[in-house]
Amino acid sequence: MALAGKNIVIAVCGSIAAYKIASLIRLLIKADAQVKVIMSKEATAFITPLTLSTLSKNPVLIDYYQPNTGEWNNHVEIALNADYILVAPATANTLAKMANGLCDNLLTAVYLSAKCPVLFAPAMDLDMWKHPSTQSNIHKLRSYGNILIPPGKGELASGLVGEGRLAEPEEIMDFLVKFTTKDLPLSGKKALVSAGPTYEAIDPVRFIGNHSSGKMGYAIAKQLEELGADVTLVSGPSALKMPERVHTVSVTSASEMLHACENYFEAADIVVMSAAVADYTPIEVATQKIKKKENEFSIELKKTADILATLGAKKREKQLLIGFALETNNELENAKDKLIRKNLDFIVLNSMQDKGAGFATDTNKVTIIDRSGNIREFSLKSKEEVAKDICSIIVDLS
Ligand code: CTP
Repeated sequence: MALAGKNIVIAVCGSIAAYKIASLIRLLIKADAQVKVIMSKEATAFITPLTLSTLSKNPVLIDYYQPNTGEWNNHVEIALNADYILVAPATANTLAKMANGLCDNLLTAVYLSAKCPVLFAPAMDLDMWKHPSTQSNIHKLRSYGNILIPPGKGELASGLVGEGRLAEPEEIMDFLVKFTTKDLPLSGKKALVSAGPTYEAIDPVRFIGNHSSGKMGYAIAKQLEELGADVTLVSGPSALKMPERVHTVSVTSASEMLHACENYFEAADIVVMSAAVADYTPIEVATQKIKKKENEFSIELKKTADILATLGAKKREKQLLIGFALETNNELENAKDKLIRKNLDFIVLNSMQDKGAGFATDTNKVTIIDRSGNIREFSLKSKEEVAKDICSIIVDLS
């Protein structure tokens, strides 16, 4: 789960332990990770690129360019697309190059271009491992923020016994899972986000809806996921692409949204209701398309359940509940009233008086009011940046 959808580049160096990478790739593919393999030329003598490309379901890259077509293997792109780079087995030679900025092959060029976390799992004979120059290179790499997956002790290919054995594929896998899930501020937390409009059916072809695009809620769901939370997004009809690694539940009407939110509320630590839920719904839904006959026509409506208030009434002490308020006048007063009435921890106010705020725009301008009466005004920003502001308050309160 932790590695699902993550782009992992494995950089394989020339060591007999390269054979273990075949098993590691299988474990990663089983965990739904996307794996791309880069090999040094020396590594190809220990395990074939064909084996690793078959297992990883991706071509294996070795040179700066494809020798047959002359096509360039863009090391910058490979590095920037990676969520994690794992150098395994990392030989003494490659570690020395990495520590000193040498880049005489594609593998080291990708390393130097990386902005994502780089993990390295050394493999070498015990005396090479103990040598002060290897140890000083490892120290240097760790000081750059690279993460060491320590080698194990045991029988080495030379027949000697000691430290230097590449960690076993299962150990590397455990290390990766722990590394990718720990230290994130919302790791272990479950979040529920509502987003988008609701459509209230009038007849089989018509509905009452609104202009909400879902952008704000989708950006919040994505940001919470990036902060380590396990996120469920309950979304009304939206043209947006479902955020990756977020469990998305699609609903249409306010009552469907209520039921979906109630299902996930109990387990949630963080709940952000950003959907623009219809306040009224037709009392009766015509089973056939309504024909135009009369000059005047009216539809009787009834109130929908207020999802946020329903959840607020059930909220446990440790749950964080966040709502939105879209106001045209008396903004602060109305928002404060909703904060108390719906039992929220904080409320995000959009004023329709602000240009660039609210529905169907890429930007938003919000004011955040908490239970202690603190009021924080933010400038006009992209919805992604607004989501970051909101989530950083969530992190502070979590
Ligand atoms: N909300 C909800 N269910 C509803 C209506 C609103 O969960 N049936 C939530 C929205 O997701 C939002 C907050 O309540 O987080 C505020 O919605 P808003 O429409 O601004 O407020 P209302 O409570 O509906 O009040 P009014 O329409 O009177 O402003």
